[in-house]
Amino acid sequence: MSGKLQSMEGIRIAGVIATNWQQIRTFQARLGDVLIATYPKSGTTWVQEIVDLILNEGNEEICRRSPTHERIPFVELLHLMKPGPEEVNAMPSPRVLKTHLPVQLVPPLFWKYKCKVIYVARNPRDTLTSYFHFDHMVKIHPDPESWEEYLHRFMKGDVGWGSWYDHVKGFWEQKDEHNILYLFFEDIKRNSINEIRKVMRFLDKDLSEEVLEKIAHLSSFNQMMENPMANYSAFPSDVLDQSQYKFMRKGKVGDWKNHFTVQQNEMFEAYYQQQMHGCTMKFRYEI
Ligand code: A3P
Repeated sequence: MSGKLQSMEGIRIAGVIATNWQQIRTFQARLGDVLIATYPKSGTTWVQEIVDLILNEGNEEICRRSPTHERIPFVELLHLMKPGPEEVNAMPSPRVLKTHLPVQLVPPLFWKYKCKVIYVARNPRDTLTSYFHFDHMVKIHPDPESWEEYLHRFMKGDVGWGSWYDHVKGFWEQKDEHNILYLFFEDIKRNSINEIRKVMRFLDKDLSEEVLEKIAHLSSFNQMMENPMANYSAFPSDVLDQSQYKFMRKGKVGDWKNHFTVQQNEMFEAYYQQQMHGCTMKFRYEI
């Protein structure tokens, strides 16, 4: 099965999300909710694990209570899998939720209640590389025809959740207006303790250096890959088919170099400059 994308409020999105849009838009966010927002493949699952470990003060057993998507429900897919909307409504506060929606489409109650939002951005070359592999697995999106075809679709924003450029800029431009902590995948990779500390402070927690080190260890790529509650192996297989590819793929900065030709890289850079003109953000492409 391979799903279709539709245009919804100006962005490309899976048909199963567009058809449930009214329900998603009116999501019952509440005071104290924390929202992890990302463009797909930017390190969402990694930060979900970090946040859960921080809120549970590094307690490994508690963080293995259920798979990531049950601990931290996915706002756009509640109608497709467990936990569904009623179960999420019944979850005690403080809840942590995940979304890939661009800033202008985030359900308004999150803003009304001034919820904390943790945004993670990843450089577009590695995001695209990761998304190319992921879209072979995820059944609500069309299969990539080839790398070349997918590269152009990504640049045009003709992939699930739309344009990467608009997504990262949208949250960047709103970060001082709302309660948004803006993180970068490459920074977490370079100095995880530093970034985990930022998240800890943002969540008003105070943990010892020892606990921070434990959290960095438990959320490292190798530890998460071996953890069935954090490696996506329990994600419903009717949405994600992991028989050929694995969700926990490489977890690196710079894998894009194994995919881009010199000519594709030059074209990508020219388009980046055009799209990101005037934006103050800077990305790392290697560390
Ligand atoms: P790759 O496909 O490049 O390996 P998301 O959770 O937003 O879908 O992002 C998935 C990407 O984050 C995948 O990238 C995945 O391997 C990577 N990832 C997940 N956990 C990670 C971790 N602990 N450390 C580094 N990368 C991680």
